[in-house]
Amino acid sequence: MTVQQSISTNKNTILVTGGAGFIGANFLLDWIAAGLGQVINLDKLTYAGNLENLASIEQNPAHIFIAGDIADKALIAKLLAEYQPRAVVNFAAESHVDRSIHGPEDFIQTNVVGTFHLLEEVRAYWGKLSAQDQSTFRFLHVSTDEVYGSLGADDTPFTETTAYAPNSPYSASKAASDHLVRAYHHTYGLPVLTTNCSNNYGAFQFPEKLIPLVLNNALAGKPLPIYGNGSNVRDWLYVGDHCSAIRRVLAEGKVGEVYNVGGWNEKTNLDVVHTLCAILDELKPKASGSYRDQITFVKDRAGHDQRYAIDARKIERELGWKPEETFDTGIRKTVAWYLENQEWVSHVTSGEYRQWLDKNYTERAV
Ligand code: NAD
Ligand code: DAU
Repeated sequence: MTVQQSISTNKNTILVTGGAGFIGANFLLDWIAAGLGQVINLDKLTYAGNLENLASIEQNPAHIFIAGDIADKALIAKLLAEYQPRAVVNFAAESHVDRSIHGPEDFIQTNVVGTFHLLEEVRAYWGKLSAQDQSTFRFLHVSTDEVYGSLGADDTPFTETTAYAPNSPYSASKAASDHLVRAYHHTYGLPVLTTNCSNNYGAFQFPEKLIPLVLNNALAGKPLPIYGNGSNVRDWLYVGDHCSAIRRVLAEGKVGEVYNVGGWNEKTNLDVVHTLCAILDELKPKASGSYRDQITFVKDRAGHDQRYAIDARKIERELGWKPEETFDTGIRKTVAWYLENQEWVSHVTSGEYRQWLDKNYTERAV
């Protein structure tokens, strides 16, 4: 009879997936800057993954980049065995709603099948840990408020017990992944945590999303496309505050629990775009007129959710987390970052990006 030896986790190491994307890169930069330990960063480098986001930690021995897919079970097993992380933080996903409407397949593959394969390998690894390390290990799944569906103007904000009602292929695929994560805790005892966050903004956001797209178009003298009448409401959170919430949940969250993360900053899309135009008018005035003159109303997004709002009282009450930035301070920082990083913008807005603009916006012209 062979006696199976348990293995120990490396207390200094975590595995992060999707760390070359917008939120993952911000998370990694903050983590390394704070000296919180070694990060193994597994990223497939899709159109949204960009190693330039991580240029400042390229030579840092605390950051190990691995190009690969969360759906690649053999690779995940190898990485877990080699680095023995104490936690996995899963950011990797296809994340853009409009792309999910044009082509849902990649969303099912990465967000559903990918998360499933990752969970399978993490479960196998976790099963081999000592009892002590099993109890301290964590799988943190980064999810979205979109899984809860759409609110009416007078509805109360989403809580952790709001029923799931995803409306887009993107949110349906994220909902499926959340359910798998929940099931792996309930069925196998895997120590999971889930965060459901509202709309992020900040440095390194790919200019397919509203805020960086509007900034980019404004500076290029192009139309600022508002879907429908611009009355849709989102709750906005500065990316650094999302990252601090994830760190807090990872450190102190109760196993099996879900935490909603939000900024108490509900804004209509039109308000957001007006704010961006006002800041640009101040920081980079046009020769004549306002950036507002470039606003154009275009055909609405299919199935467009009217309103998202997050009730973040659980994470505030139980874990003592609060956002540091207000919308006013965060959005100023963000506009300043885009103005100072036009080279980064020019690198990500070639080739594939232009094809995307053609596909998404040509047919919307009013
Ligand atoms: P993003 O699109 O900017 O980055 C996604 C990253 O995942 C990219 O680096 C990409 O290369 C990588 N990736 C994609 N498929 C992969 C695969 N199969 N294997 C490995 N890596 C893969 O996304 P983001 O905005 O940074 O979002 C990160 C996570 O946070 C996502 O899970 C998203 O659902 C969630 N989220 C985002 C927001 C938001 O406002 N952006 C809000 C709440 C939650
Ligand atoms: O709520 C969290 C979610 O926020 C995340 O899970 C997603 O990954 C993230 O992409 C984001 O989804 P949204 O669809 O809300 O973000 P987006 O920036 O694409 O759009 C914000 C709002 O602006 C939405 O109501 C659609 C609108 N919009 C968007 C674009 C790109 C426009 O009016 N014009 C545009 O050109």
